Amino acid sequence: MKDILTAPFIVELCRTCSNMYAHGWDERNGGNISILLDEAQVGEYLDLSTVQRSIPAGFSAPELAGKIFLVTGTGKYFKNVAYDPARNLGIVRLDESGTAAQLLWGFSDGGSFTSEFAAHMMSHAVRLTADPKHRVVMHCHPNNLLAMSFVHDLDSRAFTKTLWQMCTECIMVFPDGVNVLPWMLCGTTAIGEATAQQMRSARLVVWAQHGIYGAGADLDETFGLIETAEKAATVYLKIAHLPWKQTITDAQLHLVEERYGVTAREGWLD
Ligand code: 13P
Ligand code: ZN
Repeated sequence: MKDILTAPFIVELCRTCSNMYAHGWDERNGGNISILLDEAQVGEYLDLSTVQRSIPAGFSAPELAGKIFLVTGTGKYFKNVAYDPARNLGIVRLDESGTAAQLLWGFSDGGSFTSEFAAHMMSHAVRLTADPKHRVVMHCHPNNLLAMSFVHDLDSRAFTKTLWQMCTECIMVFPDGVNVLPWMLCGTTAIGEATAQQMRSARLVVWAQHGIYGAGADLDETFGLIETAEKAATVYLKIAHLPWKQTITDAQLHLVEERYGVTAREGWLD
């Protein structure tokens, strides 16, 4: 068996958590990440027949039965993940019924997966049907997207169009747009179901007055999605209170679509 602390998925998640903390997106225990792992790859590091303990999921996701996830722990600080991965992270396998997680490694202090496990697992299930390359769900609390959710209309199309108008490249990075959920109680199956429902049509879902969810094929791509939306929100908050002389028009966004071969969410550009 190879040393799991050298596994690329652990090393990369540690780096990502540190980077997200440095961006100010993950104060205290804010934020959580889960990654769908390849069983054969995990098998190079762990004996997959040894289950340390079983943790009830609190919901049922039979479509994920047998799938293995690397996931951040509840109450754990992103700034600490790289210093003690075995305590702050866990590798779990959804059991045959999809109602409990079998702990294969990690959560060494007796801890458990993130309180947002429902939103993560349900989003994975939805994104896997939309995109077979999907692997990562990432949640965090970026300052400017969070602030924008106080002052901007929460209609998903209107919110997205404002972000697309703030930087030319936004529409290339997230042509599917951003879906927005109104404030809901976090850590519940209900917000998990609502998030997954929004993930059917977009890889970014804003939780108003809370933060954002992103989904993608790997950590870089998912980080980049959130980073780009957060950049646009930053520009928006710098100019929202000033008189606008010009913006990027829908006609100009259509030019970007044509030149770069991206297709904006149907009906969202005039
Ligand atoms: P956890 O510490 O349980 O992951 O919760 C953090 C968070 O951001 C909740 O939305
Ligand atoms: Zn949160």
